[in-house]
Amino acid sequence: MKGVLLSGGTGSRLRPITHTGPKQLVPVANKPVLEYAIEDLKEAGVTEIGVVLGHKGREEIQELLGDGSKYGVDITYIVQGNPLGLAHAAGCARDFVGDDDFVMYLGDNILKQGISELVESFQQGDYGAGIALQEVDNPTQFGIANVDDDGNVTELIEKPDDPPTNLALIGIYVFSNAVFDVIERLEPSWRGELEITDAIQTLLEDGNAINSHVVRGWWKDTGKPEDILEANRLVLEDKDLAREGRIDPGATVQGRVELHETATIEAGATVRGPVSIAENSVIESGTYVGPYTSIGPNSTLEGVHLENSVVIGDSTISTTGKIVDSLLGRGANVGRADELLPEGRRLVVGENSQLKL
Ligand code: DAU
Repeated sequence: MKGVLLSGGTGSRLRPITHTGPKQLVPVANKPVLEYAIEDLKEAGVTEIGVVLGHKGREEIQELLGDGSKYGVDITYIVQGNPLGLAHAAGCARDFVGDDDFVMYLGDNILKQGISELVESFQQGDYGAGIALQEVDNPTQFGIANVDDDGNVTELIEKPDDPPTNLALIGIYVFSNAVFDVIERLEPSWRGELEITDAIQTLLEDGNAINSHVVRGWWKDTGKPEDILEANRLVLEDKDLAREGRIDPGATVQGRVELHETATIEAGATVRGPVSIAENSVIESGTYVGPYTSIGPNSTLEGVHLENSVVIGDSTISTTGKIVDSLLGRGANVGRADELLPEGRRLVVGENSQLKL
């Protein structure tokens, strides 16, 4: 079983955060989303991984993942170029996969329970594909599966106007080699892409059995800023958080707080977990960092009240106002204004932005 990890696409729904970098490298609880996928693949015993790259952020992704040895996996890079669809991306991996079966993992998806059960249940039968499903509130925004009373998949439709169920295809699939011939026959969808959902529908019409598996733990497609915040919240809730950095006498630290050994919480600061603070970051006196917040590396917080937010890194936040539900891109600086507003502000700030609040 090989792994195909998709890291192309444009990241358009995460702009401006993704103007200069790929969305799969946006950190959740101070770890790039893509690393969670590598860990899940490894845990499921999939160690030969082909990483499919688009145009954007190719160098950054290769720099981060390298040859995979730091994760105990073996990485091969496959260039897709233009994002012509998930099935096109899978097709680009044909030579890499060879005669094997493979797991296809969308690099912007993150899920609690890992993928071992999905891989194992695919391997227990003679299936054309294995899909993972979860109920969603907004089924028009996903690939949707229809199932009969016995739980057998009867139909798959990409982003239907009139969804027959609310069972979404989550972004992890297992395929037999038969999918490659199907992909060659596919026609582009209404959005001009070769859809993986259409490939699975064709496998079904060709008489292949489709293994389906309902995922119990949480799952997030981190395509939009609010999804990053939600994924950050969910991961911080579950993760073991280690306090290794300096906490000065006179600082208040409550709950579970991950503090890198080079990070500091100064006297007069309050940090209420779950929170993650990365290397070389400093929480200064008068600052409040509230639950479900991740502070990336090399950042300084000077007097702000910050809650339920992600600061990607290399930032200075010196406003004394309240910032909530916000995603701050790398190098974003938030300064102080003369006049303060009592209620929290909601921000999505791009890289190297300068704000005065
Ligand atoms: O998240 C689950 C959903 O993912 C499924 O329910 C849908 O059926 C499936 O089509 C997909 O929908 P999205 O519209 O969210 O896919 P997106 O374009 O965001 O691409 C998903 C990942 O694949 C992302 O990491 C970028 C990468 N990608 C995407 C395309 C179109 C590529 O590497 N190459 C591509 O050509």
